Amino acid sequence: MANLSTLYAGLNLNSPIIASSSGLTDNVQNIIELEKAGVGAVVLKSIFEEEILMEMDQIKQQMVGKPYVFPETKDYLDEEPHEDLIRAYLRLIKESKQAVQIPIIASINCISNQKWTYLAEEIQKAGADAIELNLFNLPSNSEIPADELEEMYLVLVEKIVDLVTIPVTIKISQYYTAFGQMLERYSKTGVKGIVLFNRYYSPDIDINTQQVSGAFILSSPAEIALPLRWIALSSESINVDFAASSGVHSGEDVVKFLLAGASAVQVASVIYKKGNSVVTEMNAFVLDWMKTHQYKLISDFRGKLSYKSLNNPASWERTQFMREFRNFLK
Ligand SMILES: Cc1cc2nc3c(=O)[nH]c(=O)nc-3n(C[C@H](O)[C@H](O)[C@H](O)COP(=O)(O)O)c2cc1C
Repeated sequence: MANLSTLYAGLNLNSPIIASSSGLTDNVQNIIELEKAGVGAVVLKSIFEEEILMEMDQIKQQMVGKPYVFPETKDYLDEEPHEDLIRAYLRLIKESKQAVQIPIIASINCISNQKWTYLAEEIQKAGADAIELNLFNLPSNSEIPADELEEMYLVLVEKIVDLVTIPVTIKISQYYTAFGQMLERYSKTGVKGIVLFNRYYSPDIDINTQQVSGAFILSSPAEIALPLRWIALSSESINVDFAASSGVHSGEDVVKFLLAGASAVQVASVIYKKGNSVVTEMNAFVLDWMKTHQYKLISDFRGKLSYKSLNNPASWERTQFMREFRNFLK
């Protein structure tokens, strides 16, 4: 009898499908429903660095005249019975842990290496099974050189890895000058998993109002191409588990990523579009596919089509590009 268990970032998952950080994972009831539908884990909606810093500022204001001083904000949080964002986030972790069996991965959306990092310890104390850091900085500032940004992130990640004993994973973008080398450097920080890729909110332009408008909130299946390539290229050479994010919409996509060497996939858009039951269908598809191909465990085929496992690894690189494009529509 085939089963879908997989090991991702030191966590035992009953399914390789993880509910991605989003509005779907910001309350306990949804998390219970997602577990029933068959997700292997959930990544909670992120707490954002800017929100944390803003709240710390407010707390600082409230602390005027009190014997607590910044940065001992955490003592304040423990002692003052008020409802705030951080407290609510920690409560979400605690309540989710009580309500479900699946691992709960907390998520911090960070853009810099500032004083908020103590929060990682609070998250661990609240019972999270892992922390995902969403390193979310669109490198659009032409005055900041690549190495400065990269160094800032590496220092931040190392700092968080040192602060906690639970696994730390990172969710990153593709916007690096030497992506392969950056993956290698991240893997040396002690992170247990890398999620490829975070997906930036991409604005559109409304030509009637001539205004910038919101668009492309949900992904399309074609978006798997980029993470698929990078996971196939890196899964066996970089010593860390990979999870795919962006464009995973079907059971077929899950199988593709496992063959490329991913340990798990993360899904958000497809659940927004089709509801939780799509997870049940995707799990059933993967199981069926495994039965057809006589695999009992994911480890029997995971990475079979990764760069290193192929006789012709060039199919993930340039040669294939030249062949396919030359012959297209001939
Ligand atoms: C409505 C919405 C809210 C999201 N909020 C977060 C978030 O708080 N933190 C985060 O890391 N990613 C967030 N994401 C990104 C998703 O976790 C995911 O990486 C992205 O949507 C690509 O995966 P998909 O193709 O399965 O949707 C959000 C996505 C959506 C659609």
